[in-house]
Amino acid sequence: MASITIRQLDEGLKQQLRLRAASHGRSMEDEVRTILRAAAAGSAEVAPVRPSPRRSEPAAVEIAVPSPTPNLAASTAMRRILLIIGGGIAAYKSLDLIRRLRERHIAVRCILTAAAQEFITPLAAGALSGERVFTNLFDTTSELDVGHIRLARDTDAVVVAPATADLMAKMAGGHADDLASAVLLATHRPILIAPAMNPVMWARGATQRNLARLLDDGVHTIGPNAGEMAEQGEAGIGRMAEPLEIAAAVEALLGDGGERPLAGKRIIVTSGPTHEPIDPVRYIANRSSGRQGHAIAAAAAAAGAEVTLVSGPVNIPDPPGARIVKVETARAMFEAVEAALPADCAVFAAAVADWRVAAPGHEKIKKQKGKAPPPLALVENPDILSTIAHRKAQRPPLVIGFAAETENVIPNAKAKLARKGCDWIVANDVSPETGIMGGETNSVHLVTENGVESWPRQSKDEVARALVSRIATALAAGD
Ligand code: CTP
Repeated sequence: MASITIRQLDEGLKQQLRLRAASHGRSMEDEVRTILRAAAAGSAEVAPVRPSPRRSEPAAVEIAVPSPTPNLAASTAMRRILLIIGGGIAAYKSLDLIRRLRERHIAVRCILTAAAQEFITPLAAGALSGERVFTNLFDTTSELDVGHIRLARDTDAVVVAPATADLMAKMAGGHADDLASAVLLATHRPILIAPAMNPVMWARGATQRNLARLLDDGVHTIGPNAGEMAEQGEAGIGRMAEPLEIAAAVEALLGDGGERPLAGKRIIVTSGPTHEPIDPVRYIANRSSGRQGHAIAAAAAAAGAEVTLVSGPVNIPDPPGARIVKVETARAMFEAVEAALPADCAVFAAAVADWRVAAPGHEKIKKQKGKAPPPLALVENPDILSTIAHRKAQRPPLVIGFAAETENVIPNAKAKLARKGCDWIVANDVSPETGIMGGETNSVHLVTENGVESWPRQSKDEVARALVSRIATALAAGD
């Protein structure tokens, strides 16, 4: 492990380093790392900052440069985010988020607010990120080396997780009295917040007003989700989105390293279940979580497409970057899809209820003592995929259906491809033992007129990215 202290360099050298770092848009630390890497590779890039001849001693430790893990932020090719961790019990999940982001080759630099340090330590965040952690606006060392303005700029996006009610209020009000809020005010990079707080705090008018203002300001949000809270007996909307969900949202926000193969293309995605009313309080539904459809919408948006996501009722966050139309029933989903035409591609990932109740009750249907339960007469819902795929006018050039099967997956999918008149079917086995419905992973077969491709079991985000990349290739070939 090599060690250097910028503070111990002589003033002239420090000034030279500062200018050089500024001209490259890097922090002084990052500049040193770049120089060291170039030196190790034998490049001439080190020449301008050779140590002053007046100083013979090697510099001493302050910036640790761990050799086995390349310093992520120093790599210009790598996407990078600044993660602001707020003070809430969900802060412990942000440690996992750091891991999830690094797994996706996203460099993470952390700021911990004072309140966050009551829950997790800078040491833990630093160990997981492999980067120095910043905590204090008035820390002379960090202001000298990096500075809050550079922290705000030297990143591709800023993520706030957990975003507490207080941090959201500060952001909405434009406060800058600590490092986190000052950086948030100073950045011109996209901001994604993952709110987390008690459900009552979340529902309060003040928080909702702040949220509306932040959305107006172009801030992206993910969550909060519904569920149990840390406080015993408390449940509702307020749980921070899961690290995997936040990581997917960050990827969608960052895009594919600037590549936007679907730029200029319009894509419609259906997702989630539909709810078919029996009476005002009961409905017929299915177990679809909407994860796969939402992941496709997010991946298509990240690839530059103009996405309309028509979603049935789900308990997952809206994917960033897509226009979202929320519906309940199959018929409403159908209308929303028709309204979103024309499109270059339509992906029907929703688990649409095949039937609806012929005559839903206008009042709650009551039990009648001694009488048999009321019969539920069902009628068939419109088949959205088949209708769109068989349209003469405004048929999207690429129509993709899903086949959720519990047996004979591939033969059934092939039959469905022909019956529905679509171009591709993404088939999966949704029998309960696979854990696919509602789960995080998926194992799919892509069925086209050219044959069947079986993809390895992978996360729903990965399936989404793979599918989007195939869509981009197909649309480019059809141009
Ligand atoms: N689909 C649709 N509208 C419906 C039913 C299904 O758009 N009313 C779409 C789904 O979004 C999916 C595909 O059709 O892309 C296949 O859905 P699936 O439920 O697997 O097939 P079904 O047509 O319902 O046939 P079955 O239930 O008999 O397998």
